[in-house]
Amino acid sequence: MVGNSGRERPLVLVSNRLPVSLERRDGTFHARMSSGGLATALSGVSEDAATWIGWPGLVVDPSEEAAVERALDEHGLRAVFLSHHDVEHYYHGFGNGIVWPLFHYFTDRVIHDREAFATYLDVNHRFAERIAEEAPEGAHVWIHDFHLLAVSNALRQLRPDVVISFFLHIPFPSSELYRMIPQREELLRGMLGADYIGFHTHDYARHFRSTCLRVLGVGSSPDAVAFGGRRVGIGVHPIGIPVDRFEAALTSDETTRYIADLRERYGGRKVILAVERLDYTKGIPLKLRAFETFLARDPRRAREVVLLQVLVPSRLDNPEYQELKREIDETIGRLNGDFGEPGIAPIEYLNRSLDPHELVGLYAYADVALVTPMRDGMNLVAQEYCLCQSLHAERTERAPGVLVLSEFAGAANSLSRALLVNPWDVEGVADAIEEALSLSPDERNLRMKTMAERVRHLDCHRWGKEFCRSVERWVEEESNRESAPRLGRSASREIVRRAVEAPRRVLFLDYDGTLREIVSHPDAARPTDEIRKLLAHLASMPDTEVHVVSGRDRRTLDAWLGDLPISLCAEHGFYTRPRGGEWRAAHHVDLSWMQAAEEVLRGIVEEVPGSHLEKKSAGLAWHYRLSDDDYAEWRARELCAILSEEFASLPIEILRGHKVLEMRAAGVNKGSYLRERLDGEPDDTFVLCIGDDRTDLDMYAAMPPQGVAIHVGSEGDGMDYRLDSPREVRDFLRTVHAAIVDSATAAAGPIG
Ligand code: UDP
Ligand code: G6P
Repeated sequence: MVGNSGRERPLVLVSNRLPVSLERRDGTFHARMSSGGLATALSGVSEDAATWIGWPGLVVDPSEEAAVERALDEHGLRAVFLSHHDVEHYYHGFGNGIVWPLFHYFTDRVIHDREAFATYLDVNHRFAERIAEEAPEGAHVWIHDFHLLAVSNALRQLRPDVVISFFLHIPFPSSELYRMIPQREELLRGMLGADYIGFHTHDYARHFRSTCLRVLGVGSSPDAVAFGGRRVGIGVHPIGIPVDRFEAALTSDETTRYIADLRERYGGRKVILAVERLDYTKGIPLKLRAFETFLARDPRRAREVVLLQVLVPSRLDNPEYQELKREIDETIGRLNGDFGEPGIAPIEYLNRSLDPHELVGLYAYADVALVTPMRDGMNLVAQEYCLCQSLHAERTERAPGVLVLSEFAGAANSLSRALLVNPWDVEGVADAIEEALSLSPDERNLRMKTMAERVRHLDCHRWGKEFCRSVERWVEEESNRESAPRLGRSASREIVRRAVEAPRRVLFLDYDGTLREIVSHPDAARPTDEIRKLLAHLASMPDTEVHVVSGRDRRTLDAWLGDLPISLCAEHGFYTRPRGGEWRAAHHVDLSWMQAAEEVLRGIVEEVPGSHLEKKSAGLAWHYRLSDDDYAEWRARELCAILSEEFASLPIEILRGHKVLEMRAAGVNKGSYLRERLDGEPDDTFVLCIGDDRTDLDMYAAMPPQGVAIHVGSEGDGMDYRLDSPREVRDFLRTVHAAIVDSATAAAGPIG
């Protein structure tokens, strides 16, 4: 089942559900093909994969695990085993009980389960561990769907060598819905551990971007989210079906016989087909109401038309799904009672999985497919119907049928020649059924031909290859984009050596985003004990000065770091406090412009929700990190032009940073602070500066030739090396400290 096409980077597929699910019958395990869109679409990718890791679909006793592993191994599959507790809280509890309803906009179906998230995280970590064991060096690990949202980040910690991508098979909802999840930040960080994230539609990608902004305060561009010093790629990749398999199934003798049977059975009656997993997102009760309306308009239709409803059993150990099934059973019984006659039931109902020949036979035979989910990530049934109809029509030289499709299915973006309906508009769906049954053959031909071409194009083999190519391209571009090399082991060793050998050392360290991780509200970024201890240790090194050079105000720096034996620079150099000394303001700075500028900026704060004004001693900053992206950027551009014109003759600098527009007194910046501090410093002093944002670039520009500038993140220029996160900065600084302490101890010679 799983092969390896010999591509350069081995591909590892990961999903909760494997392509086969095991069942226990008469004491032995039986494998059956898994149901649902993910299993269908990934069947077209698996030939290119070295391994596929997932849950075999049932709980097995630990003593049976080895036997199951062996059975799966024959298909190139690897298992992550789940206990009953895991199934209850990870699969049903968090996956099907919280993420599934919320991402499909069914807030009233969300079930609160206190153990759900902890178990979800635990299982996601176990997936990451299993992948870490299995993935070949440098592999591309492609993680799928909503059960595994937190795997990417966990895997990144365990295996930084692999390329990680994630694809969501269901909708990504508006941030208004997403933010209802109590653990929204952690889950989002989990996804952002990937190098590249794919969605079915542009709308889902757009929702994801605005969620990153609203929930984590993280900005993005249409193709990337900047997070943790990396850029996570975003792509729109509408999924398709394995066209070749449907073609082969359709031309089999078994299918031909089955179609002949159908013709005999239904004779002159028109067949309307509905195929779906039993799921509340599919809008089955609403669809039955629409069919009832259609029949009620002219009850004689019950003799002319039959609705063939196929319900594939799904998640039946969940009471919600059992309840839904009861409701559907009752409604179908009632409608057949109301509109049927002896020997004639207007609705026929199959509540089981279909064999391939039955499925394609029904697709080929039916006059209309009624696909009316209330919300669906993509919907492959619609594509399968179009393909089979068009192929069968070509072979039999008859006009194809008609697809009635919900606007709320991702497929509506690709299959726009369907009769598109709003499933809540019951009368409108009944109208569409009437229209579908009366469209002219030419019209049907034209519509179906266009859609079948589209389905061929979306083919999941091609989808998988395109996705992998996009990931590859993204990873390559990102590595080329980086202007400075990553601070690797050998460069790090060399810098440490220079630090140890130098007679004096001066360290300039930015605070937010460099020593401390960025958090959603600036007040919450207090230094941890670890950071304070690290600064104290650095400052205790012989012949060493440590400067924290920040844009923050002096009160905050004083409160957080004022008791440490280090020098502080606040507000980008406007206030400075030498080690053990007092705060001083920069002299001779013309601030006459501040009041007028403040008035302008206060006006914009009122107009742009989520933005705020920061007043500094020598400047003003308008922050719009939490505002609507497009609107705030537009206003920032406009504001920049207005300010540049109005304040043109004054000694100010206007800077557009990352989600911030700043006005500051000319000549006061972090670079001027460095220059002043380093004036008269001998050439053999070791000078290190580390920063993470645009204001730190001034420091890099002011570094002496022998200095080393390190930047956290990939954007910016003028630095010598890059690191990915504050954690890496702290680790590096600890290495410097340890080396200097060791050399000082060695120089002191043996004790006694
Ligand atoms: N399907 C199935 N078993 C059946 C009938 C259909 O697995 O007995 C398949 C169908 O061919 C389609 C998938 O289930 O590929 C349903 O995918 P869709 O995207 O429509 O919905 P999902 O189940 O993913 O929500
Ligand atoms: C949808 C989901 C898949 C899932 C399938 C069947 O298609 O996107 O991830 O596998 O439904 O659901 P199940 O709970 O049986 O895996």
